[in-house]
Amino acid sequence: MIIENCSLLGRNTFGIDVSTRYFFEYKTEEDLQTFLQSPLARTNKLLHIGGGSNLLFLSDFDGVILHSGIKGIEKKKEDDKFVYLRVGAGEVWDEFVQYCVENGLGGVENLSLIPGEVGASPVQNIGAYGVEVKDVVFEVETIEIATSTKRTFVAAECCFGYRDSVFKQHLKGQYVVTHVVFRLKKEPIFTVDYQSLRNEVERLGDLSLSTIREAVIRIRKGKLPDPKEIGSAGSFFMNPVIDEQQACALKQIYPTMPTHTAKNGVKISAGWLIEQCGWKGYSDGNVGVYEKQALVLVNKGGGTGREVAALARKIQSSVSEKFHIEIKSEVVFV
Ligand code: EPU
Repeated sequence: MIIENCSLLGRNTFGIDVSTRYFFEYKTEEDLQTFLQSPLARTNKLLHIGGGSNLLFLSDFDGVILHSGIKGIEKKKEDDKFVYLRVGAGEVWDEFVQYCVENGLGGVENLSLIPGEVGASPVQNIGAYGVEVKDVVFEVETIEIATSTKRTFVAAECCFGYRDSVFKQHLKGQYVVTHVVFRLKKEPIFTVDYQSLRNEVERLGDLSLSTIREAVIRIRKGKLPDPKEIGSAGSFFMNPVIDEQQACALKQIYPTMPTHTAKNGVKISAGWLIEQCGWKGYSDGNVGVYEKQALVLVNKGGGTGREVAALARKIQSSVSEKFHIEIKSEVVFV
């Protein structure tokens, strides 16, 4: 069903009060294919959203916003090591994680409580506590917008990177994810390299899928705002990667600066950089920086996308001035 002049207030976790000219939610791949061939789709700007947990709306949207209502978790196949689950793009991500944990399937427990829906998970390669969704994505089923034909991407074709994939790069806006096939381990291998996670698991008891899930939920609840109470999009910025030389020089001035080795340099915690610039807990009218995690920008109620964007720009300039490091937003501006 197509809804005209539809509010997006409940459809973006930042809680920005904007609307879209048209809103269309489909329940099957065929519904989507039919829609894509319609005059409405061919003459309007299209934007596909998931849980709206990684978007910042700067103004009303003059086009069609699409949302997947494709549900279902089905077992596609199984071998001695893995179970392959085919999951509808419209499933809530954390409900899928819960399903896996309850069924003893390993691979996504560290990604507990990440907001959003399954279809968006491979697009930005969601990650937390040492795990990225790319580690368990087997295939991504899509429909090409221009031709309404189906195309399946195997994991290698998705070009996954840190919060990145082919769907954010050269195929941006060209395909709609309809299902994701995940390859989950029957004999889980636990990833508890993160000190904070290991400590929390130890407090809860034996290492298991459910203690990891519980520990991640506790840590996230302690650090990140609940989108139902305070508008936010989780981490607003990505952690920047700088070269070895610059990292070394900074370490001499700031010996406690947290660093991680990355593929092409040294990854620095954007939250730490922002905190050093004095922004943690900053408040400006309706928007601000979360007091427990400087990487998270918040809308305390009634804030606009432009106010959040203006604050983001000020933060970027001050980090650039103090550290000569450019931090990029993880959130997509619409
Ligand atoms: N830090 C500070 N001040 C802050 C925030 C962080 O000094 O205000 C320092 C911490 O002390 C720590 C380091 O920065 O040493 C890393 O902090 P944290 O473990 O909280 O992780 P992060 O790098 O800030 C990333 C992801 C999160 C994910 C966590 C845990 C990105 C952009 N963010 O945050 O993902 O939950 O790691 O793995 O990579 C999200 O994308 O929305 C998100 C929440």
